[in-house]
Amino acid sequence: MIIPANLLKEVSKLKEQLNYHNYRYYVLDDPSIPDAEYDRLFLCLKELEKEYPQLVELDSPTQRVGAAPLSAFSQVTHKVPMLSLDNAFSDNDMRDFNRRLQDRLKSTEDIEYACEPKLDGIAISLLYIDGQLVQGATRGDGTTGENITQNVRTIPSIPLKLLGQDFPPALEVRGEIYMPKAGFGALNNRARAAGDKIFVNPRNAAAGSLRQLDSAITANRPLEMCAYSVGLVEGGDLPTQHTAALEQLHEWGFLINSEMRAVGNIEACIEYYQNLGVKRDDLAYDIDGIVFKVNDFNLQKTLGFVSRAPRWAIAYKFPAQEEMTQLLDVEFQVGRTGAVTPVARLDPVFVGGVTVSNATLHNRDEIDRLGVKVGDTVVVRRAGDVIPQVVSVVRSRRPETARDIVFPDTCPVCGSHVETVPGEVVARCTAGLVCAAQRKEAIKHFASRKAMDIDGLGDKLVELLVDEGLIDSMADLYHLQAQQVEKLERMGPRSAENLIAALHKSKQTTLDRFLYSLGIREVGEATARSLARYFGNLEKLITADEETLQQVDDVGPVVAHFISDFFIQPHNIEAVQALQDAGIQWQDIEVNEADEPLSGQTFVITGSFKVLKRSGAKAMLENLGAKVAGSVSVKTSMVVVGGGATNNSKYIKAQELGVATTDEPGLIELLTAHGAL
Ligand code: IVH
Repeated sequence: MIIPANLLKEVSKLKEQLNYHNYRYYVLDDPSIPDAEYDRLFLCLKELEKEYPQLVELDSPTQRVGAAPLSAFSQVTHKVPMLSLDNAFSDNDMRDFNRRLQDRLKSTEDIEYACEPKLDGIAISLLYIDGQLVQGATRGDGTTGENITQNVRTIPSIPLKLLGQDFPPALEVRGEIYMPKAGFGALNNRARAAGDKIFVNPRNAAAGSLRQLDSAITANRPLEMCAYSVGLVEGGDLPTQHTAALEQLHEWGFLINSEMRAVGNIEACIEYYQNLGVKRDDLAYDIDGIVFKVNDFNLQKTLGFVSRAPRWAIAYKFPAQEEMTQLLDVEFQVGRTGAVTPVARLDPVFVGGVTVSNATLHNRDEIDRLGVKVGDTVVVRRAGDVIPQVVSVVRSRRPETARDIVFPDTCPVCGSHVETVPGEVVARCTAGLVCAAQRKEAIKHFASRKAMDIDGLGDKLVELLVDEGLIDSMADLYHLQAQQVEKLERMGPRSAENLIAALHKSKQTTLDRFLYSLGIREVGEATARSLARYFGNLEKLITADEETLQQVDDVGPVVAHFISDFFIQPHNIEAVQALQDAGIQWQDIEVNEADEPLSGQTFVITGSFKVLKRSGAKAMLENLGAKVAGSVSVKTSMVVVGGGATNNSKYIKAQELGVATTDEPGLIELLTAHGAL
């Protein structure tokens, strides 16, 4: 088939455009055309290639996916070995490293270093011949790796064809393939929903994705590649500094790490390490340290290599975020809302920069998911400020004595029944404040900074006060005497006086703080504030029904139920009363009269409605400040009579008493006039 010359041109222009826009999107993170336009160009090229299959070339953006699955990966011998790095674990290791280099260079001058994150993924070497990607290989043992060309081609941040013209005819680009944290989370969510195996961490997920013989699977995995060095370079030159060489790779189409910097000496390297350590958890990808490289290529050459690592580079590792240890036992803690949480007691292990001896196991489902037993060797993870987690079990190390974890049917503290509401994963002790554990937690919450803010009343002291039998409830706090408190462990007359003064001071509070401090399930600070603002005083809130509660900002049916359920229970009302009796007070909030044009009026609703729901109409009237009553009296301002109620008792009573009546359209008009509809 003859191919018209203008068609050849068009295909090559489309490929060039698509490669360029791919680079803008995946490498520069700065797309210049909308996705739909990209899709249109892509489709155009696909159509042409379908019509003229002889035009399909390997560097075409349409060819990233679609190669036939392999039966095995072939072996690749690296022309330039892929090296590993020496490690540093302390600032002094870094200073020793710098001194070694200076000694070798016989100079005391500062050395300039390139600093870049050590990405936690899989090392890769990409070979470009005349700008075309011809091979992608894993590191393997450093000399021979696996040919995973088909898989790397599916990764959008890897150019199939280099941009520009001035690249060396043979160029090997090296870097790391990794899975960003967000993509990892999404992948595992999908796996969980489909009941598939989930990955332990982004590195395992990246490795598993690259090991696929069917590249269509790899194509669906959110992988990225970041360039950090070169291997073979033939027939052309690179800049003479590492940082400049990477900038050059970036221009040819590669992603490079945006945290890369050149610094003037070893102390600045240590500072970089500390700064990035702080940022570590906020980065979009996992890193396990910082790599420092002598920036000048000539100096690198002078310094050379020792066995399989360059002398001119070092990896300063962060404390590991995952370690193995033994699960010694599981205890069950009871929280403020009665939630029974299994806590792993671990053989203490240094992880994420601290010694960890406890980790949460969350709930029964998590124990089942992990398949963990007491006695197992487990992998514990502690990242940033997040509480330590058990992430997996090392099955191969399970001892014969390992025993099942038995989730209790009764509360480990008070012995009451533990129940799991259908649809929830959390098991709860049903005893409420009768349970000593819940009581302690409730008092801790009550005293906390965002609640009643009782200075000096920390968790430990609350525990002590309860354990010593000095308090049993929140209100008991306000009856404490300094003489009782000063006898407690680590207290004295001074701190006891201070505590009594702080308790006294906390009595003057605000309605929202008070509501928050009650610890009603799902009522956080914001909801407490909305409730205070909406109702203005406690009585209105206590008597509000669930319908009315739902009128409040961020209160949905579930929260409304928790609130109403809280105030229905006599022991809660008693606790509130006891607190008020102890002297806790606040200023009621003036609810703006303009918002309540019907305040002081009482409505009665009867009959059936066509447009409005009776419950909705009631809530709207109450919102406007009206009271909605169940029976008609001389005090009634208006009776709203729905369809079919002209001979019902309320209508007749209204007639007798001369109380005004209206129908559904009349009510709609009234609500509309006040902006409620
Ligand atoms: S440079 C000759 N730079 O760390 C220098 N390596 O043991 C060779 N790695 O598996 C490596 N981030 O894949 C270098 N910015 C970075 C890196 C990095 C991660 C990995 C690399 C290798 C290991 C070195």
